[in-house]
Amino acid sequence: MSVDASKVPQITLSTGQKIPCIGMGTFGSDRFTAEEVSNAVAGAIRIGYRMFDCASCYGNEDQIGEVFTNAFNEGAVKREELFIMTKVWNDMHRKVEEAAKKSIADLKCDYIDLYFIHWPFPNYHAPGCDVDSRNPDSKPFSVAEFMDTYRQIEALVDKGLVKNIGISNMTIPKLEQVIDQFRIKPVACELELHPCFQQQELFDYLVAHNIQPIGFMPLGSPQRPERDMLAEDIADMQVPEFKAIAEAHGVHPAIIALKWAVQRGQIPIPFSIHEMEYTSNLESTVTEPLTDEEMAKIATLEKNNRLVKGQVFLWPGATDWHDLWDENGTITDCPDAK
Ligand SMILES: NC(=O)c1ccc[n+]([C@@H]2O[C@H](COP(=O)([O-])OP(=O)(O)OC[C@H]3O[C@@H](n4cnc5c(N)ncnc54)[C@H](OP(=O)(O)O)[C@@H]3O)[C@@H](O)[C@H]2O)c1
Repeated sequence: MSVDASKVPQITLSTGQKIPCIGMGTFGSDRFTAEEVSNAVAGAIRIGYRMFDCASCYGNEDQIGEVFTNAFNEGAVKREELFIMTKVWNDMHRKVEEAAKKSIADLKCDYIDLYFIHWPFPNYHAPGCDVDSRNPDSKPFSVAEFMDTYRQIEALVDKGLVKNIGISNMTIPKLEQVIDQFRIKPVACELELHPCFQQQELFDYLVAHNIQPIGFMPLGSPQRPERDMLAEDIADMQVPEFKAIAEAHGVHPAIIALKWAVQRGQIPIPFSIHEMEYTSNLESTVTEPLTDEEMAKIATLEKNNRLVKGQVFLWPGATDWHDLWDENGTITDCPDAK
């Protein structure tokens, strides 16, 4: 079973570059080993994926790089046919070139197609930490510090190490502070998007500014780390109206979530180590689309079901995780907002 990569629909970035409408995530969620994830990447290349969402903090770039090297050496795919995304982790905001060079060396990919600022503040937490862990050095968002990190990536574009810049886990109030300051515009923003967490206002803002939304946790991340699981969270794929649409199509609800994502205009980056799952996820982009009625029904399933609250990034003096998301329209504790 495979999908002809040339048949996967494409999205055009603000630069005019065309990229696949779906990618594969590579975060093992503290549950899957680097070997399991990189084996899945190898299988995914074989069956037709051409876009991969990596990050240094996922702890598996070295193993994924081996897979890319093998795929290039075997002639399965050429470097320029892959769209490789990765992210600078929070503890490297003052040393972005070093971080990018490490990711390039680990991924063995010569350059990064799209390099994200993973989180808009330098707040570091150890891999696998629990939800109550806090770093006393954590700070609120600062316009100057964010722009300093962004300028370092612009310099990497000038050097040819990075082709495109991305932002991630941003909010409209934060974007409003920096949107006029970019020399090289971001082409994409990664944000949490699934049927019960649609972030319509931010989605519309990004589209209006020609920034492609890339939706992470597109299936509601049933295997997310323990620290991101709360009793009140909703399992998107168990919502009855959603299951009914899946039953009508004779597919798993995951496939409906991906069709909805692509038809809405975001790029989903689903993760799975299981060949049957990642294959059907890619196939979802080339099979029967959802009807307008089904799209309209899914639009009503919004439940403000944010799964990554980000508690571990809170700074001393912050109240709770809502402070990270600027829900009242201002940036909490920002020292230098206009
Ligand atoms: N920028 C950021 O801050 C950020 C944050 C989070 C994630 N991400 C990126 O987004 C990617 C995706 O997020 P995620 O992995 O947390 O969540 P997800 O893609 O929503 O969910 C992944 C889980 O869904 C299940 N699944 C996948 N395909 C399926 C199918 N066809 N049928 C049934 N179940 C299926 C698998 O669980 P089972 O193993 O149980 O089948 C898999 O572990 C990550 O890997 C990462 O690259 C970025």
